[in-house]
Amino acid sequence: MEQPFIVDDPSTDTFRINRRAMVDPEVLAAERANIFDRTWLYLGHESEVAQPGDYVSRTVGGRALVLCRDHDGTVRVWLNTCTHRGATVCRETKGHGRFLTCFYHAWSFDLAGNLTTLPDAEAYGPGFDKAALALKAPPRVDTYRGFVFVSYNPAVIPLVDHLAGARDYLDLVCEQSDTTMAILPGTQEYSIEANWKLLVENSIDGYHAMSTHATYMDYLITAMRKAAEALGEKLAPPSLDGHAHDLGNGHAVIEYTAPWARPTARWAGPLDPALREPLAARRAELAERYGEERARRICETSRNLFIFPNLIVNDIMAVTVRAFEPVTPGLMHVRAWELAPVGEPAALHEVRLDNFLTFLGPGGLATPDDVEALECCQRGFTSWRELPWSDISRGMAQERPGITDELQMRVFWRRWNQMIGGDPAAAGGGEGETPVRLHAVGGGR
Ligand code: FES
Ligand SMILES: [Fe+2]
Repeated sequence: MEQPFIVDDPSTDTFRINRRAMVDPEVLAAERANIFDRTWLYLGHESEVAQPGDYVSRTVGGRALVLCRDHDGTVRVWLNTCTHRGATVCRETKGHGRFLTCFYHAWSFDLAGNLTTLPDAEAYGPGFDKAALALKAPPRVDTYRGFVFVSYNPAVIPLVDHLAGARDYLDLVCEQSDTTMAILPGTQEYSIEANWKLLVENSIDGYHAMSTHATYMDYLITAMRKAAEALGEKLAPPSLDGHAHDLGNGHAVIEYTAPWARPTARWAGPLDPALREPLAARRAELAERYGEERARRICETSRNLFIFPNLIVNDIMAVTVRAFEPVTPGLMHVRAWELAPVGEPAALHEVRLDNFLTFLGPGGLATPDDVEALECCQRGFTSWRELPWSDISRGMAQERPGITDELQMRVFWRRWNQMIGGDPAAAGGGEGETPVRLHAVGGGR
């Protein structure tokens, strides 16, 4: 009997994923055609190219791209391929200069994309059209609050419509700054031998926090208890209390109060007690500007935000912006950056950087646990034919699922299923090419 990719039956509170989706190269090919070629993808942040002449290069949706700021100050995105015979015009991951000069035959382009010079230009005939040989941009590029997205689908819906309810959560992240938020220098770059969808699940999964990250939680709670004792205070029992939300178009978030300190106006031990007062003052300022309820959310709550299909913004004890790229069904590349308010006071900035490294970094106390968990899943999927189903039904009977439920993952998988099944309405709108139809898999349960 042919099996679907998803079993989604609210009448029995059943939600199951066919593990073939995690291992089959045909599925990855369909994901590339139906998802990564058709919707908006996160590329980078405008602050990564803060000055005219700055550029970064990276692969997104399988294409090599350059994000740069030209000499007029305009942020631009180019396909990183020479219009001569194809070499990448930018071989560095990051740099600064007036031109991108191709390594192969030395054609040179300015950052506005114009082909400016080439060796022995006189050998070309009078029909040689330099203007037509400018660098080419992806079909669609747009930004939201500094976050730069691209789409390879000329008919994709507008970015603001695509972002849907996720916009409000990006706003909450950005409102931490009075001016602007910027990506700090440096990239955490690593690979995970697991399917990319496992990282989507893991990045918004509250259920695993206490088990997978037991070491970090022990460390944190011990440090908090010691800090409370030193101040003669009693530590309230730490908890992760909050809810999961469907933000539309496959985006989802968990929003919760957590025991840790947040550099944006949430004091908690073991933060220096001297920071208590400035953080309270900062909180009061934000309440004045945004109202008490919004200020509470900006300062107090943590959120793990997933923007379909390749962006995570984890605004927790630091703000991690994480993007990922499938390579094979069992391998993904991950990049992560720290986002911080420009002009943040030094003491808080230090806390942020410490949290970014000790909890979130690939050498920290959390990310290696997650990498191991995901690689364990991928190893477990070797028996997908014999045991084809993963269960993602937690909290299906709840009216308001909590952060340790799995609503947020179901939101992702439902959208994935729509797009992978070749539903044109789910493809990000527009009249792009007909989506690939991928048939469900044969075999027993
Ligand atoms: S391929 Fe770039 S100059 Fe020839
Ligand atoms: Fe984790």
